[in-house]
Amino acid sequence: MKIRAAVLEEFGRPLEVQEIDLAEPKAGEVLVRLVACGVCHTDLYTASGADPSGYSPTVLGHEGAGVVEKIGEGVASLAPGDHVVTLFSPQCRECAHCLDSRTNLCLAIREQQNQGYLPDGTTRLSRDGEPVRHFMGTSTFAEYTVMPEIALAKIAPEAPLDHACVFACGLSTGIGAALNTAKVEPGSTCVVFGAGLVGLGAVAGCRLSGAWRIICVDPAEQRLELARGQGAHDTIGGGPDVVEQILEMTGGFGADYTFEATGRVDVMRQAVESARMGWGLATVCGVAGKGETLEVVPRFLITGRRVAGSSFGGVKGRDQVPQFVDRYLAGDIDVDPLISHTLSLDEVNRGFDLMHAQDGIRSVISFDS
Ligand SMILES: NC(=O)c1ccc[n+]([C@@H]2O[C@H](COP(=O)([O-])OP(=O)(O)OC[C@H]3O[C@@H](n4cnc5c(N)ncnc54)[C@H](O)[C@@H]3O)[C@@H](O)[C@H]2O)c1
Ligand SMILES: [Zn+2]
Ligand SMILES: [Zn+2]
Repeated sequence: MKIRAAVLEEFGRPLEVQEIDLAEPKAGEVLVRLVACGVCHTDLYTASGADPSGYSPTVLGHEGAGVVEKIGEGVASLAPGDHVVTLFSPQCRECAHCLDSRTNLCLAIREQQNQGYLPDGTTRLSRDGEPVRHFMGTSTFAEYTVMPEIALAKIAPEAPLDHACVFACGLSTGIGAALNTAKVEPGSTCVVFGAGLVGLGAVAGCRLSGAWRIICVDPAEQRLELARGQGAHDTIGGGPDVVEQILEMTGGFGADYTFEATGRVDVMRQAVESARMGWGLATVCGVAGKGETLEVVPRFLITGRRVAGSSFGGVKGRDQVPQFVDRYLAGDIDVDPLISHTLSLDEVNRGFDLMHAQDGIRSVISFDS
């Protein structure tokens, strides 16, 4: 079939919205009609050419929500009409990692996905007979996409898809960092560095875990306002003195749990140093630049602080994304303030401009508009 999609032709150039071909889903694959898709830093990072593993031509986009149109042979967990959120982090439910509660890093299709292919090593996207690669196994800046069954989370049909799409990446990452990686205990003190979608999700996750006190750190005042809306009790502007400030605010000890959601290695270090001696846990969510390293003075570790990393918040997507969406429907997670702009597919590059200008938290492409 012919579809309209935003194609990355050349790094550092705007995406080009154009008509391309999408083949039928093969065995284990599903055709999804996209209804909404968030525009994320990872899309911009790849488009800019900064990601050394990037490739082109490819259809970007990974924060999709839509409706199943057709299923390939052997697909048993989904049927046409089901509402789904796309998962760049799949869950096969069979590999050693899927069977272990300690990680969400499914091993099933990593290699092919990283190279832009579906699990059988080919693409369903093409143009004039030439293959166009899939991005993050999702390619959701498009009217339709074909994806593996194991990379789709079936969600409640009553959830508005233009809100559900933010659970495809940043929001679930933050919530999951608190719930899965840190396993925040009720009554704890938490500090979240960064109030983008990931940090705001972490604030929400700490609140859902029953944290007693949540401090959010971000230089942008309008983002701290959003953090208060998600449940932060105290907000501070950050900077070189922030560790001292946090120690002062916590009786000299630091916090039980800290979360880094900025991608800055200096802030990761602050997250380690403002975790409490004895048991403080610093959870790193941000993606640092190529070649950057995290400096930690070992004394902080010997005196009982721990550091953990979190990919997609440790979320096993097919199981847990539907649960998060249910909590949103139940009123436990406030998604409205996180969606700042609604764009058409043709305006996808404007979504990148808005992100550059730090205008709003998420721009969402609506395929009905
Ligand atoms: N681990 C994962 O699976 C995963 C998933 C999605 C995103 N990420 C990464 O998480 C990070 C955050 O993503 P986002 O979408 O929320 O980004 P974002 O850019 O919207 O938010 C980052 C925030 O950090 C703030 N900040 C900048 N300097 C700061 C400082 N010194 N102290 C405190 N805050 C500071 C910025 O003002 C901004 O609000 C990025 O590095 C992103 O690549 C990771
Ligand atoms: Zn993303
Ligand atoms: Zn798996």
